[in-house]
Amino acid sequence: MEVIIQKDAAAARKLASKIIAHQIENKPTSTLGLATGRTMELLYSLLVDQHREGKLDFSLCRSFNLDEYVGIARDDENSYRSYMNMHLFNHVNIDLRNTHVPHGDEKDLDWECHRYDKLIDECGGIDLQLLGIGQAGHIGFNEPGSSLRSRTRVKPLAPETMEQNRPLFKDPNSMPHRAITMGVGTILDSRRALMLATGKSKAEIIRKAVEGPITSMVTASALQLHPQCTVIVDEEAAELLEFKDHYRWVFESEPEWVHYRE
Ligand code: F6R
Repeated sequence: MEVIIQKDAAAARKLASKIIAHQIENKPTSTLGLATGRTMELLYSLLVDQHREGKLDFSLCRSFNLDEYVGIARDDENSYRSYMNMHLFNHVNIDLRNTHVPHGDEKDLDWECHRYDKLIDECGGIDLQLLGIGQAGHIGFNEPGSSLRSRTRVKPLAPETMEQNRPLFKDPNSMPHRAITMGVGTILDSRRALMLATGKSKAEIIRKAVEGPITSMVTASALQLHPQCTVIVDEEAAELLEFKDHYRWVFESEPEWVHYRE
């Protein structure tokens, strides 16, 4: 796991957008794993800007989102399908038929989860998986106690997650208590993982995920097992990390990052 500390949230987002752009340039047929949430909104707007400037071509890309609420219609304003259309898909040249979000309104949810994992496999797996981290330490909606080998399935949401996301619902009481989420195992199968976390509120959970023990109680800590995971944080989210000097040294000295340094 590599940790990159940037001076502020804007610089952290910019670096993440460059890594995604680089992935698409190198492999125009990339399969992207995508996340939702507040952290991603401004990152997606950077990708949209790059596309509008003619620098980013999504036409051959495919995407799989991490998760979707159970019981919410695809066209509901609170669905993650609507979020993705609104923040990214409607503004770039990705073919909507190549974008996948789990169907939280499917009657047979087990079947849907199985279909989703199978589709990821049939598409050759995920090249770059984008991730945020929740207050409960989750990646996707893999809440505390989730198996570190889990595949896509339905999970009940943790109280911290309910609290974190309830304000995003027009009627906060309508927030579902369950979601379909890619499993930790599904996420670990991606060829590259990129986590973005910014702001003071993420400092404690980032410390646990990055420098704490690998535990199903903080599923983001499983990323320590990922063969190529980059965690980008701003100074605020990095505040409680013990090995900051080491992370800075690696970013400043490794040739891989030369083109990414400002
Ligand atoms: C969303 C997702 C979640 C979020 C996490 C952080 O698809 O998978 O894991 O990335 O809850 O959310 P924000 O960015 O709102 O703090």
